[in-house]
Amino acid sequence: MTKARRMMQENIKLIDLIIELVDARVPLSSRNPDIDELGKNKARLILLNKADLAEDRRNDEWMEYFKKQGYSVVKVNSKKGGGIKSIQSVIQEACKEKMERDRKRGILNRPVRAMVVGIPNVGKSTFINALAGKACAKTGNKPGVTKGKQWIRLNKNVELLDTPGILWPKFEDQTVGLRLAFIGSIKDEILQTEELASELVKFLNQSYPGVLEEKYTIESSEDNYEVLRRIAESRHCLVRGSELDVEKAAAILLDDFRNGRLGRLTLELPEEN
Ligand code: G4P
Repeated sequence: MTKARRMMQENIKLIDLIIELVDARVPLSSRNPDIDELGKNKARLILLNKADLAEDRRNDEWMEYFKKQGYSVVKVNSKKGGGIKSIQSVIQEACKEKMERDRKRGILNRPVRAMVVGIPNVGKSTFINALAGKACAKTGNKPGVTKGKQWIRLNKNVELLDTPGILWPKFEDQTVGLRLAFIGSIKDEILQTEELASELVKFLNQSYPGVLEEKYTIESSEDNYEVLRRIAESRHCLVRGSELDVEKAAAILLDDFRNGRLGRLTLELPEEN
């Protein structure tokens, strides 16, 4: 068993609620289904993070999709703080049954303990910082306090483990791998920049026709590489003064997509799953 998995198992024992971050542009590809097994019997909250980069009507569809499966769901923009305010009340709601059980057993005012999990680059640290802010008091690991985990006290009802659990992406499936590469979650490992960008062109032409033409003021083409060449032309990407630098155009396209400069785009839809 990997170290990450072992640590996750240890930490899950300490908590009531798993706050799982997924990337709103690829809510399924950015999940690791192992968390369902690891976190069975725990309250579950899914955050559609980077919601600012995904189409809002799709965000709403994904929220419905996950709600139907019994998860609490919130769409958030951790970078700008969007959706963060509602989290604390959603946490209480998600842990209602547990709090009720505690109350019946005479345990009163025990804070809910939660941890954040997600694959790399999904925004875990950004989210924890946004949620905890500066004012939070850390508990544990202080002189005189039992040595152990660091907990961030969000309010009198909720404590958050300060280090997130890192889930490993599942990219044996080629489509999943491609989507994770598009969003920059697996750093251009599986394909060359040009190949990856040409796959992105293919996807965008199918799902968001017109976006590339408008962004780069180019004529449309059925040929993905021709689109990259046209972007290179339009952006004056040249090598040795005159040859088109398609590699550079490919990098520009990927960067523009990843940073939302092509608009809010969602790569996978609930109805496909
Ligand atoms: P991790 O802990 O899960 O590995 O992710 P981390 O918080 O480091 O975030 C990864 C990248 O995603 C960061 O960008 C972060 O700013 C960005 N990010 C996190 N949440 C959101 C969000 O809701 N919306 C948007 N648009 N971006 C988000 P970076 O490029 O690594 O750094 P920087 O550009 O912020 O300097």
